[in-house]
Amino acid sequence: MTVICRVDPLEPDRSILRRAAEIVRQGGLVAFPTETVYGLGANALDPAAVKKIFHAKGRPLDNPLIVHVASIDQIYMLAKRIPREAEALIERFFPGPLTIVLEKEPIVPDETTASLPTVAVRMPDHKVASRLIEESGIPIAAPSANKAGRPSPTRAQHVLQDLEGEVDMIIDGGATRLGLESTVVDLTVNPPELLRPGAVTFEMLRKVVRTVQVHPSVLQDVSYGGAVRSPGMKYRHYAPRAELIVVVGDQQNVQMKIEQLIRELSPKKLRIGVARTTGKLYNASHLEELGRSKQEIARDLFDVLRRFDEANVDVIFAEGIDERGLGLAIMNRLKKASGYKIIRA
Ligand code: TXA
Ligand code: MG
Repeated sequence: MTVICRVDPLEPDRSILRRAAEIVRQGGLVAFPTETVYGLGANALDPAAVKKIFHAKGRPLDNPLIVHVASIDQIYMLAKRIPREAEALIERFFPGPLTIVLEKEPIVPDETTASLPTVAVRMPDHKVASRLIEESGIPIAAPSANKAGRPSPTRAQHVLQDLEGEVDMIIDGGATRLGLESTVVDLTVNPPELLRPGAVTFEMLRKVVRTVQVHPSVLQDVSYGGAVRSPGMKYRHYAPRAELIVVVGDQQNVQMKIEQLIRELSPKKLRIGVARTTGKLYNASHLEELGRSKQEIARDLFDVLRRFDEANVDVIFAEGIDERGLGLAIMNRLKKASGYKIIRA
């Protein structure tokens, strides 16, 4: 049975957070909003509770979880040897949409880290998340609260669609502010590596840690051969049910290419969807607006991918954007969602 409780994201009801914290302490599952996406939370230090997360999501057991904290002290409890670069990142970006990978302390069970010697730590910038962690008194392991492979949830409704009956409580704090999962940086390697781009952009990281590098998997498919640092890299992600194709290049060429592709498919009588960022009118069954600014695109991307499923389209063409700033994170999710079906216009 799944209970849904609505809260004001800015002033969440204490009694609801107490109930949620009690569920976490007893080894249950609570879905909660963060500034990025909704998380599926459990006691990060309890192997049995953590196993429930993997089971509910259908998540491969070799894909480790992020541990969420509400204080700097908790970071020191989970991680040993915090390098200078990590301290600088914590100082600059915590709380916020950044996850750092550090060497783990034995207190963190192997179930949480998928047997890696490292642990991913993040301090969310959201009252519901931070008060839930404070109230429960323990760090909370939380992947995005979607079924494995589906777009991450940015609304409580998305969590319900994927996990009804499998999570004890969903705290509904409305739509999430940023819409893409946190930036992940590995500080156990030299130079440090960006494993997943997010709202803390590469350019922002660079100003604090000058040596940080973009891991190749951020830009292209690494699922065939090659070393996989973040196990999450090798699985298909964020995927809508329809076939998704990303068209990249200059805006005008992209639009012309999509029009041409639609014309070529027209004898097949398929339901075609287009995710556009430009307001361009296409001759398609279903048009979705991704927003005009990168902030809007990031915030709405996963919601839009889910809406294509509801509209039952067969093929989706998405207009690509440039990879500067937040564009790197947006294009990373779009490419992964397409299974790297990318056409250059
Ligand atoms: O914004 C977010 O990060 C959201 C919210 C709920 O906080 N959480 C989230 O979790 O996106 P998840 O499990 O969907 O993604 C975690 C990513 C995966 O790519 C995983 O492989 C990577 O972080 N990761 C976790 N622990 C790691 C570790 N020890 N070393 C390298 N990568 C790790
Ligand atoms: Mg996820």
